[in-house]
Amino acid sequence: MKASVYSAPRVVVALDYPEPRAAEHLVDRLAPDLCRLKVGKELFVRGGPQLVEKFQRRGFEVFLDLKFHDIPNTVAQACRAAAELGVWMVDLHAQGGLAMMEAAREAVASASKPPLLIAVTVLTSHDQAALNELGISETPARLAARLAALTARAGLDGVVCSAQEARALRKAHGERFCLVTPGIRPQGSAQDDQKRVLTPAQASAEGSDYLVIGRPITRAEDPVAVLEAINGELAEASSR
Ligand code: C5P
Repeated sequence: MKASVYSAPRVVVALDYPEPRAAEHLVDRLAPDLCRLKVGKELFVRGGPQLVEKFQRRGFEVFLDLKFHDIPNTVAQACRAAAELGVWMVDLHAQGGLAMMEAAREAVASASKPPLLIAVTVLTSHDQAALNELGISETPARLAARLAALTARAGLDGVVCSAQEARALRKAHGERFCLVTPGIRPQGSAQDDQKRVLTPAQASAEGSDYLVIGRPITRAEDPVAVLEAINGELAEASSR
């Protein structure tokens, strides 16, 4: 099973808070053997690298979700800075192109502990109409598959994708290609604004390596209990 390649814990808690203090309040209740943490644009702009370092000093591995997209040199230097910050995972937009992704890969390779470098294929907020506006006539699914192939060609570690695309991407790119999936909802929890959701066990069965989960945990009365239940569900799913 993949756990030998991509070690536990597999849940990445999305710290979608406008205030570092609120994120820290939740992190105080979590533990590094239960989850990893995702710091995105909103929290990073307010909390900065110091906040990431603070979480890392407490033993958490951090996914720095800044979705870089710029000219190759700029993205490469940003990825190098992320590697120097010591994050576990960092992402960029596959639509930045092959040269940009290759430059980023080379930039992190020399780090003492290179982060996993993954690519966002198509934003889930982009539907067919949005792609058409950009002059792209392909379906979102076809474009995502094509950009995942470009990501693999650039030698990156994997992609952020919907768990519903995971099975096909796993088949196309093999066991070592890392699949990071948001849009996860435990049975019975609110769907919020996510459209196509899978449960943790379903996502795992589809081939997801890491499950990005925000509101079902961050808005729970007892976040640790929810996290432990999800981890239990994942352990049971992978022992089947
Ligand atoms: O609260 P929820 O579980 O929906 O949070 C999901 C997280 O994953 C959010 O941080 C969201 O920005 C992120 N994400 C997503 N869909 C993508 C990429 C990232 O929901 N395609």
